[in-house]
Amino acid sequence: MSLELKIRAAQAAFDELESGVRLGIGTGSTADEFIRILAAAVKDGFEVVGVPTSERSRALCEELGVPLATLEEMPELDITVDGADEIDPALNLIKGGGGALLREKIVACASKTMIVIADSSKLVETLGAFPLPIEVNRFGLGATRVGVRKLADSLGLTGEIALRGGEADPFVTDGGHVILDASFGRIPDSKALADGLKEIPGVVQHGLFLGIASLAVVASRDGVDVIRPQVEG
Ligand code: 5RP
Repeated sequence: MSLELKIRAAQAAFDELESGVRLGIGTGSTADEFIRILAAAVKDGFEVVGVPTSERSRALCEELGVPLATLEEMPELDITVDGADEIDPALNLIKGGGGALLREKIVACASKTMIVIADSSKLVETLGAFPLPIEVNRFGLGATRVGVRKLADSLGLTGEIALRGGEADPFVTDGGHVILDASFGRIPDSKALADGLKEIPGVVQHGLFLGIASLAVVASRDGVDVIRPQVEG
């Protein structure tokens, strides 16, 4: 996605906010643009207290002077603004391309509203072309991987399940866990997969955000669309 489209989506999401908002602040290159817009507004008197979804976003907010709190200090938030890797018509998402899915989900679920910011290339009919990030405990990684494989087989999902960063030097999340990226290609029943993943003890969290987002602000060359979930059936 071009920088210009990221900025447009971020600006349109910022325009939805009112001064005084208790704000969850997402992670990723689109969220970075949102943080820059927010920081400029703070300098002009916009009032906000933000809870960042990663150490990366925390560092950028601190550098730019966005006032922050922890989720312990402010456990209920008004709105979270965050990016996504895929968005389906019901506004179900795949997230975690940047590795922040656990904190992103905790913060989004502590918020009354989640606004997704993205460009139109993130819109899909069915989730799954983007490899699904699954955050897992480092203890028992092999067993957890077997559990994920068996679950996938039972749902007819094929494709590689790769340790992010590779076996020798895996990527480690802010929570100290590792990530399995599951290249299923297409996930026809995301609810069954999400439910099954929760049953595997070593799975800490997964990047399926089902029924969490209330609004997507999607930028394309033609402008910015505000999309609300299409209810199935
Ligand atoms: C990080 C995420 C990001 O929101 C997602 O990967 C989108 O990132 P970008 O805005 O850079 O395309 O889920 O964990």
